[in-house]
Amino acid sequence: MYKIRKAKELAANIYLMDVEAPRVAKHCLPGQFVIVKVDETSERIPLTICDYDSENGIVTIVFQPVGASTLKMKNLKAGDAFEDFVGPLGQPSDLTKEDPKELKKKNIVFVGGGVGTAPVYPQIKWLHEHGITADCIIGARTKDLIILEEEMKAVSHLYLTTDDGSYVRKGMGTDVLRDLVVNQGKKYDLCIAIGPMIMMKFVCLLTKELGIPTVVSMNPIMVDGTGMCGACRLMVGDEVKFACVDGPEFDGHQVDFDLAMKRQQMYKTEEGRAKLFFEEGQTHHGGCGQC
Ligand code: NAD
Ligand code: FES
Repeated sequence: MYKIRKAKELAANIYLMDVEAPRVAKHCLPGQFVIVKVDETSERIPLTICDYDSENGIVTIVFQPVGASTLKMKNLKAGDAFEDFVGPLGQPSDLTKEDPKELKKKNIVFVGGGVGTAPVYPQIKWLHEHGITADCIIGARTKDLIILEEEMKAVSHLYLTTDDGSYVRKGMGTDVLRDLVVNQGKKYDLCIAIGPMIMMKFVCLLTKELGIPTVVSMNPIMVDGTGMCGACRLMVGDEVKFACVDGPEFDGHQVDFDLAMKRQQMYKTEEGRAKLFFEEGQTHHGGCGQC
């Protein structure tokens, strides 16, 4: 069992939990995810890691309840425990594999949207620990939905924006990025966008136009997170990839977002899953044959 050390509501319907998971905390790197299971009957939920403390064996997760299992999860309190907490899974961010000396020469900008702000945090924190302070644009629908503002400020040059203009400025993360590059003359060598699929798609359209290489996190299309269900199949250039095994991070300019979003919708119904299996044949899944 994996004990919850701290549980709190960060914003309306967005929850943070610190979980005692020493083995995961010791080995995880930014970009990786865990699979949690509340109890024996609950679904497996893949969640990108928001923070980790290797010394104290703590992993921090942030989630937004959307289905039965995440709704059950939000009722857990400090002192309760998860039945399962598996990880770290997926590939660490490419940033962590680069020579920090080379990284220091790069101007990096992050674009985080809503709950997608949480997985941005370990990356900018890791960069900060390696002497690099990146620019970070965070967009949320309203002021009340901005999370981790102080934490982000401590490790990045933070730009906040809200869709409705209730805090700092009005507009989306893409508006801020365009403003920084086009009007303020900022030059970026790399953009990392993490948030809703639609946001990542539009960030990529903009960065293509601006000539900025861009990485996206395809965590939103994962279901079981083990390479077995086939839900997270996506096209990256002309290659078939699975977000949970080959990613979650990919070259955003190569990702077919329209196909990924269409699959995401189809995967929600039994009929849709059967159709995907029929159309995609052998490359549909990792081999479980369950769908
Ligand atoms: P949301 O719908 O409130 O959107 C958050 C922000 O994204 C918006 O405020 C806006 O700034 C930006 N955005 C949305 N559409 C955009 C567009 N067309 N162009 C530019 N920017 C746009 O999201 P939410 O409810 O906070 O978060 C839920 C979503 O986040 C889910 O879809 C979930 O899958 C996703 N998520 C993604 C990751 C990841 O690793 N990529 C991690 C956690 C959550
Ligand atoms: Fe099921 Fe990747 S989430 S195969």
